[in-house]
Amino acid sequence: MTESLDDLPIRPVLKSLVNPPVFKPVPPGVRFMQFNECAWPPSPKVTAAIAAAAGQVNRYGDSHWSRLAPVIAARSGVAQDRIVCGNGSAELITLASTAFIEPGRNVVVSTPSFPRLGGASRIAGGAVKAVPVKDDGAHDIEGLLAAVDGDTRLFWLTSPNNPTGADVSAAELAHIVRSLPQHAVLAVDEAYGEFARAAGGIDALEHLKGQTRPWFVMRTFSKAYGMAGLRVGYGFMSSPALAEAFHRVRNTFNLNIVAQAAALAAFEDQDYMWARVRECVAERERLRARVDGLGLRCLKSAGNFLLIELPMDGAAAQAALRQQGIAVSTVKAPGFERHIRVTISGPDDNDAFFAALATLAAPAPRAARA
Ligand SMILES: Cc1ncc(COP(=O)(O)O)c(C=O)c1O
Repeated sequence: MTESLDDLPIRPVLKSLVNPPVFKPVPPGVRFMQFNECAWPPSPKVTAAIAAAAGQVNRYGDSHWSRLAPVIAARSGVAQDRIVCGNGSAELITLASTAFIEPGRNVVVSTPSFPRLGGASRIAGGAVKAVPVKDDGAHDIEGLLAAVDGDTRLFWLTSPNNPTGADVSAAELAHIVRSLPQHAVLAVDEAYGEFARAAGGIDALEHLKGQTRPWFVMRTFSKAYGMAGLRVGYGFMSSPALAEAFHRVRNTFNLNIVAQAAALAAFEDQDYMWARVRECVAERERLRARVDGLGLRCLKSAGNFLLIELPMDGAAAQAALRQQGIAVSTVKAPGFERHIRVTISGPDDNDAFFAALATLAAPAPRAARA
């Protein structure tokens, strides 16, 4: 008998979900500007820490990250019992969804945004109330707040937003804090927060620290710290009770021993991280000015990526660029069919991307999105 998914006693909601995409290793020679990773390798102190930890992998990692969490606590001023680490911040998204979402409940999130934010809610059996971003790629804060109902449990706010690059202002955050009902947890995803802060963006944690309503702020070692392959994220919780909710649904040993040692070394080498972030931000602005010069619409970005509107289908542009040895991403959201997202890389890759972009069809007049 050939067994299909329908023959298995799976939860009915799984039948409406799709498999995750298959991502194969990048062939040598391809300029990989697709996943918003850090183009620069991690600090040499990180590679040394990895080497030192390699001989200890016969042991499980520390279940409560008891070397890493105190260091994060000391720098942030948030007590250790309000810090939760995850296997990438993606795990924290899953944990939040598992803790707060079930059939009948929903999350509110912008579209387009990081797909996992809505996806994890669907897996948990909940609904997604997706609110289109504004024409300039910014969150529609009033629209998001208006979408909140009595069943909303997570209010996702990505700052900067992937893929549009917009970050939130202090005034917007304060307005959300004032307006969001207590039964909806304010969930701020700052995966790209360092890139925003390096250019004058706000630190959501500093703005939320004194707030008594339920909130959490998620960050990651995948982007600014150049450690996507090791999978380490961390979150600041409004209270020990909120941290407890995450602990109850997580795997005990969610961070491996090498990842914990590497994250500690990375976090202690802030100078290295900020130097890379500043380099990336400078490259981003250099590339954006050049893309602008082509007459293409390129949204202002606070992240390590740019979203570019083309006079052609985004998937066709992606394929054409791939032909030229450059991998970029498309956006799967209504109104973004002609966009590509490119991760800022070193000057050589950015120049190669720009040269390839310029060979694509001549720009059409700027189109307003429906
Ligand atoms: C907005 C946003 N949040 C979270 C993540 C997850 O990152 P990670 O699991 O590597 O920490 C990503 C990854 O691209 C992202 O773009």
